[in-house]
Amino acid sequence: MNILNTQFEMIRQSHTVAMADRVHALKAAGRAIVGLQTGDPDFATPPAVLDAALKAMQDGLTHYAPSRGLMELRRAASIKLQRDHSVSYDPETELLITHGGIHAYYLAMQSVLNPGDEVLIPDPSWATHSNMAIMLRGNVIRVPAPAENSFIPLFESWEKALTSKTRVIVLNYPANPTGVYPTREYLQRLQDFAAAHDLWIVSDEVYENLYYGEKPTSAAAFDGAKEHTLLINSMSKTFAMTGWRVGYLAAPARVIENALKAGQNSITCVAPFVQKAAAFALTDPAVRQATENMRTAYARRRELVLRISHELESERVLVTPPMGAFYFFLDMRPLKMTSVEICEHILEEVGVGLIPGSAFGEQGEGFVRMTIAASDGDVEEGFRRIVEWAEKVK
Ligand SMILES: Cc1ncc(COP(=O)(O)O)c(C=O)c1O
Repeated sequence: MNILNTQFEMIRQSHTVAMADRVHALKAAGRAIVGLQTGDPDFATPPAVLDAALKAMQDGLTHYAPSRGLMELRRAASIKLQRDHSVSYDPETELLITHGGIHAYYLAMQSVLNPGDEVLIPDPSWATHSNMAIMLRGNVIRVPAPAENSFIPLFESWEKALTSKTRVIVLNYPANPTGVYPTREYLQRLQDFAAAHDLWIVSDEVYENLYYGEKPTSAAAFDGAKEHTLLINSMSKTFAMTGWRVGYLAAPARVIENALKAGQNSITCVAPFVQKAAAFALTDPAVRQATENMRTAYARRRELVLRISHELESERVLVTPPMGAFYFFLDMRPLKMTSVEICEHILEEVGVGLIPGSAFGEQGEGFVRMTIAASDGDVEEGFRRIVEWAEKVK
């Protein structure tokens, strides 16, 4: 028998995708399912962005583009990083346009990892962060980020996990699935730790614009941080552009040189008309306003869930207000069931699609992730059904 790449035996299929497939199948069979499983904005991409893409196609931008990305888009990303985080990235050498945030993460990790290098990743976290590191033959060390510490690792846990083989720390704030982000002081301390031990910090900031209190700080926004920080960002969440597949990696020039080779030899380039639309989205004031309106809608739905939770006073579905992103990580540990069991019962019995917390790591056991990137009506209906189900369980 021909031998397969054995690394894949260490990775499970994405729970999120599997759950989305089941919800589609049940809907196709005529069941009235409220889908609160997927992290995809329910808003349409702002129409002016579509016009920009169409115009670019009509202007003939339907061929290969430069592998680094169109200068116009790299410049727009650089201006955005300067404006939002006061960090200066040279669009010539320190920015690379990617096929979404997931691809930026892949290029970042492939650029710095050698086989057997240890990668520190908080638990819970988005499964792709650890799966990708494993695919690239890294050795993933999960750093507990327990609910009792607001899903942020105790600083001692980073220190405890450190060995002579540690190379990378992966951060994702605001976090999927918990919505949390740490203080500026905490990030500063982590940056000092990374600098002292020659570690890379790979920071996935795709939810940076979705926050409900104080603005989160970028991992790169500290003196000297830029030299060992790899920033991941994308158009997907902020601009409701998940299907366009466009994002960027901002990193030291020597990292970008590797990432460029990896990009050239895997995707060649990102579609140029998509890049034109992304550049337009990053610079157009009316599109910016549209993103603000989406954020307001998420904030309204967040309040809606908090209000219903207050009204229902469940002791079985414990709610912590998310600081950012568009998820609630509901604490259902009082039920003493696994999160997979909880999600299966809820889907079968009351027709709500959710993601089990254990899909994000051991620390997520007993929790479920519910998105608010769905209509107000679905969020309300879905959340009420969850609580009513939980209250009736024997
Ligand atoms: C933390 C995180 N990073 C990246 C992505 C993927 O983003 P993109 O659509 O830009 O690839 C997701 C999508 O859910 C995510 O949750």
